[in-house]
Amino acid sequence: MKNRADENPIQTTASEETVFKAKGLKKVYEMGEVKVHALRGVDLELYSGEIIVLLGPSGSGKSTLLNILGGLDTATEGYVEYRGKDITKATEKELTDYRRYHVGFVFQFYNLIPSLTALENVSVVTEIAKNPMKPEDALSIVGLGERLGHFPSQLSGGEQQRIAIARAIAKNPEVLLCDEPTGALDSSNRNSGA
Ligand SMILES: Nc1ncnc2c1ncn2[C@@H]1O[C@H](COP(=O)(O)OP(=O)(O)O)[C@@H](O)[C@H]1O
Ligand SMILES: [Mg+2]
Repeated sequence: MKNRADENPIQTTASEETVFKAKGLKKVYEMGEVKVHALRGVDLELYSGEIIVLLGPSGSGKSTLLNILGGLDTATEGYVEYRGKDITKATEKELTDYRRYHVGFVFQFYNLIPSLTALENVSVVTEIAKNPMKPEDALSIVGLGERLGHFPSQLSGGEQQRIAIARAIAKNPEVLLCDEPTGALDSSNRNSGA
């Protein structure tokens, strides 16, 4: 996959700074006798300022790739550099710092903490971030400013997904990795800054 700004007229704001560079990425899940080849050698280069959409059928490896780019999973083969640093060779401490200070991640299945309110779910991230937004502001951006004290079980799937988006944007990350972030949203919320 190649996504250079000069090859795609839509991405005119992209700069030449390489943010992600992956080469030969493979991921094999071994389930007893069965080997699942989730990624079979992915090469990609993503540049600062780009908005990239990754399309593919269910099971084609989109979540696996995003998890590896986000430092949440490891590749079986190949490497990923984030701003020139190989994250596949990073120590646990470096990976924790990378996840905490550099990447925002919207999970496909939200990963909210059921015993915490909307506000608390966002605050757990902003409390340890370096340059966060106010959690209330992030929730207002996704239209949940009036639901701060509600628990995930008191909110619809789309509203839970919007908390997950608020949590990811609230820490003002350098990159935002979103795994089907609008899957549960209707068209008006899909377009409303989320
Ligand atoms: N933890 C896992 N253990 C075993 N197989 C997995 C695991 N995670 C994903 N897979 C398999 O890897 C393939 C790619 O999955 P995934 O990355 O979730 O695809 P997508 O997000 O494009 O739907 C699928 O065949 C899936 O069953
Ligand atoms: Mg997926």
